[in-house]
Amino acid sequence: MDYVAPARSIRIEQASLEDLETLYELERICFGRNAYSKQFLRLLLVDPSSIPLKAVTEKGELVGSAIGRVEKIGSQVVGHVYTLDVRPDFRRRGVGAALLKSLENEFRKLGCERAILEVAVDNEPAIRLYKLLGYTFTSRLRDYYGRGRDAYRAEKNL
Ligand SMILES: CC(C)(COP(=O)(O)OP(=O)(O)OC[C@H]1O[C@@H](n2cnc3c(N)ncnc32)[C@H](O)[C@@H]1OP(=O)(O)O)[C@@H](O)C(=O)NCCC(=O)NCCS
Repeated sequence: MDYVAPARSIRIEQASLEDLETLYELERICFGRNAYSKQFLRLLLVDPSSIPLKAVTEKGELVGSAIGRVEKIGSQVVGHVYTLDVRPDFRRRGVGAALLKSLENEFRKLGCERAILEVAVDNEPAIRLYKLLGYTFTSRLRDYYGRGRDAYRAEKNL
């Protein structure tokens, strides 16, 4: 596994269906009523094309997660980032960056040529993180998250 450790006290591991409740709780903390449903998270966790990662403390507490899927767009294999969540009290410690870099490493191993993701146009922290990690913003997707809630599509060559 080529997971990137954000700090000595936090490690990145593969997540599983056993983490569903905690992942859903984290998703609700991060996105409130715009969170993915538990059913959708369950689908992501059991899908063989998915790469579910979690960040855990030394005590085994789950404090972040990233889930991506390997997908085909035309003839190209791409890694699609579906979620990136860090618990508020663990932010700005490199956890989000480590989760995303670890996901990119897994995408590369599975033959993905690029990573793609969507982010709400007003999500400044996430946009800054993606820019820092080399993502370019290629288009604006109108009403992507619902009426009046646009997203940017961002991409990175792997
Ligand atoms: C976006 C998110 C995942 C970032 O996680 P994080 O662990 O705090 O990110 P990191 O500590 O790895 O940040 C790396 C860099 O990104 C940028 N960054 C991250 N959060 C930032 C913020 N709130 N303001 C400005 N820059 C920020 C900084 O450049 C930061 O480096 P620095 O701390 O040395 O300045 C986290 O804020 C989160 O979970 N938000 C809610 C869920 C969400 O919006 N997910 C993304 C969906 S597309």
